[in-house]
Amino acid sequence: MQTAKPIGEFRMHRIMCKNKRILLGVSGGIAAYKTPELVRLLKKSGAEVQVICTPSALQFVTLKTLSVVSERPALVDFFDADSGMWNHHVELGLWADAMVVAPCGSNTLSKMVSGQCDNLLLTTYLSARCPVWIAPAMDLDMYQHPSVQEHLQTLQLRGVHLIDAEEGPLASGLEGKGRMAEPAHIVDALNTHFEVPDNAWKGKTVLVNAGPTYEPIDPVRFIGNRSSGLMGIEICNALIQKGAEVILVLGPSHLPVPENIKIIRVETALEMFDACCQHFGQCDVGIFAAAVSDYRVAQASQEKIKKNHDSMQLDLIKNPDILSHLSQTKKAHQRCIGFALETHNAESFALEKLQRKNLDAIVMNTVGENSGFQSTQNSVVIFTKNQAPFASNVQSKSDIAVLLLEKLDDWHVVE
Ligand code: CTP
Repeated sequence: MQTAKPIGEFRMHRIMCKNKRILLGVSGGIAAYKTPELVRLLKKSGAEVQVICTPSALQFVTLKTLSVVSERPALVDFFDADSGMWNHHVELGLWADAMVVAPCGSNTLSKMVSGQCDNLLLTTYLSARCPVWIAPAMDLDMYQHPSVQEHLQTLQLRGVHLIDAEEGPLASGLEGKGRMAEPAHIVDALNTHFEVPDNAWKGKTVLVNAGPTYEPIDPVRFIGNRSSGLMGIEICNALIQKGAEVILVLGPSHLPVPENIKIIRVETALEMFDACCQHFGQCDVGIFAAAVSDYRVAQASQEKIKKNHDSMQLDLIKNPDILSHLSQTKKAHQRCIGFALETHNAESFALEKLQRKNLDAIVMNTVGENSGFQSTQNSVVIFTKNQAPFASNVQSKSDIAVLLLEKLDDWHVVE
């Protein structure tokens, strides 16, 4: 069984939260007793902290304690009868540089998913424009329940960052995964977010493609695939942290996209091909994470096809291979990194694609229960022509993105 990370791993010297305004939402749960310590550590990292509790959180921690440690009145009600103050959730949401809900119990989690807002914490969450983190805490069987797992996944697909629950003894007496991440680990996650870019890729322009492509059959139907675009978007986030200029060519994806990068939205493989060809010339590196449709309908109908026959056939023709085309024609200084999505004989297919498409590296991922399409996690193996392959664990796609860039640096694939 995995054990929780030792608290000593918290890098106390990091004060990246300096002058950052952090909203701490505390929901009801035994882990709320740890939140005064969380506030203390956030303050020590230089942050201003505004605490908002749900009414049930007050069964586990007092407003007085949280107000004293945060040096601001901790809030629970929309209206304070004593001072006559109206606690405006929109203002609070706009004030913050980051919002953290810790502990995030199952009730608050499901309300965040469905958009319910029967308390100040939830209305503020809906108004917040800043990045949001959740640190769930619940008993182990609750945590494993499919509805909780689906809710966690939904929020992550909407761009909320998960600080995963940790393993250890639980208040129920059971032992397993469900404890709120240690306050030090929560602060570490925020510090990492606010860390100044390491600038290792400063001066480099990188083309990333991501998402599925949709190939029209008629005006209302298309051939598509299950790609969400998350892996490519996380690669863009990691590139921004490294100081790169990023151009993202994005197929139909509903996910929030990073700010301050050039984004070209496309729908079909041919549009993606054109956009990539147009921009790759000005780039040093191309990272091709898109799930491009291999075929398109030869003659898409201009009108909705009626169901006049018992069967029908679609004539499909091959789309151009964007990666192959650009990597075969790249200049000496340019690098191309491809992805290989496989269901069987994964390694041999990935190595074959590395050679055939003339790639500098290929990232192999398989479709599995906890990874691949529609998942917020992935596990990959990275191959190059002359390095021993590197296999990751099952990790969040944001961690995989960081790891990929680090490997490309370590192996001097990108210099
Ligand atoms: N790719 C591409 N253009 C295509 C098809 C794939 O640029 N028309 C790229 C993908 O973005 C990915 C790599 O090629 O980086 C491998 O894609 P994958 O779907 O794994 O393999 P294919 O080359 O399509 O081959 P197959 O479907 O036979 O496995």
